[in-house]
Amino acid sequence: MNNCIIVTGGAGFIGSNFVNSWVKLGLGKVVNLDKLTYAGNLANLVEVEQHSDYVFVHGDIADQDLLAALLAEYQPSAVLNFAAESHVDRSIHGPEDFIQTNVVGTFHLLQAVRAYWNSLTAEHMLNFRFLHVSTDEVYGSLGKTDNAFAETHAYAPNSPYSASKAASDHLVRAYHHTYGLPTLTTNCSNNYGPHHFPEKLIPLVIHNALADKPLPIYGNGQQIRDWLYVEDHCAAIRRVLEAGIVGEVYNIGGWNEKPNIEVVKTLCRILDAKKPRADGQSYLNQITYVEDRPGHDLRYAIDATKIATELGWKPKETFESGIEKTVNWYLENQDWVSNVTSSEYLNWVHTQYSERGEELA
Ligand code: NAD
Ligand code: DAU
Repeated sequence: MNNCIIVTGGAGFIGSNFVNSWVKLGLGKVVNLDKLTYAGNLANLVEVEQHSDYVFVHGDIADQDLLAALLAEYQPSAVLNFAAESHVDRSIHGPEDFIQTNVVGTFHLLQAVRAYWNSLTAEHMLNFRFLHVSTDEVYGSLGKTDNAFAETHAYAPNSPYSASKAASDHLVRAYHHTYGLPTLTTNCSNNYGPHHFPEKLIPLVIHNALADKPLPIYGNGQQIRDWLYVEDHCAAIRRVLEAGIVGEVYNIGGWNEKPNIEVVKTLCRILDAKKPRADGQSYLNQITYVEDRPGHDLRYAIDATKIATELGWKPKETFESGIEKTVNWYLENQDWVSNVTSSEYLNWVHTQYSERGEELA
């Protein structure tokens, strides 16, 4: 077994931030297996693409032959599964891809990893880890005054996306319980930061504000999410990989609960200061209430006590510091935004928002 890890989905938002920091921190070789769906973008990895510790492999987590070959060649000490279909609205329009990658794909990945793990020496079997990156959405929706999600909270996923992630979590749990595979699962709250695809709330609002387009708020905008800066999530995953107890689940969150409308107004005010509109008006004027998301979860909130007390992880960024860094990144990387807002992106925003009475394409 080598000082090497395999990361799946490393060309996406969180995966690319994770791979970039892993290489920059000099933690060893990382092999990035990514299918390069609309959400995967090799431009997210320009900082490391020439580095001798970085290898990119184009492929699908459902391809067991490819996985077996990669595992045999690189002999990793860990496999981290970031690969997924990740957008709730897309899962409502077309759930099939979510079942295929998040459920069937995770199953094939687990099968290949189990076979590899069984081929290791006893010492290497002991040290190997399979870390599954999951979401707080598997727990369903909280009422305004309910306690935040602890690891013991019952699963109650409400969207095809969260149901597919819940299914993958259960498979991971079963592979530990039945076969002894040394797994770790993390369930994290909403991330934000560089490389976030502009279909999600924060990058969509920044992009639309600068493009003089409506800023679409679903329903009344009072839904609450718990926001975590992506680099803090990556640090938490590294810590779980390093010190997490095999078979355990760790919830990761930023203690930053905000109603959507407050997040959007904050973005407008930051943009007003950093990049004022040509007409001197506020970006707040672009806020537009649109038809709600079907089955829209009211509130997510993570109780991150376990990872704080057992593994000593805490987020470094406050929402204020993280959101400012994020806006700066988007203002400085408008070429990145232009490159990802392709015809596929325009088709998606047309499909999603024209039925809500807004044309964003
Ligand atoms: P993303 O959509 O930005 O990226 C997903 C990546 O996976 C892309 O690079 C895509 O090409 C790749 N991929 C998709 N299907 C694949 C397949 N079959 N084989 C190989 N690669 C494939 O997603 P993200 O926001 O970076 O999320 C990463 C993980 O973290 C997901 O598992 C998601 O459920 C979880 N998560 C996300 C958030 C969030 O706020 N974004 C929060 C908690 C957990
Ligand atoms: O909680 C973790 C999850 O966070 C991850 O598992 C998902 O992969 C990730 O996409 C995210 O899911 P959300 O549905 O919470 O994120 P999204 O950015 O799509 O939406 C955030 C909130 O903003 C949600 O309440 C819906 C609302 N929204 C979203 C969009 C795209 C709007 O009001 N308008 C919009 O146009």
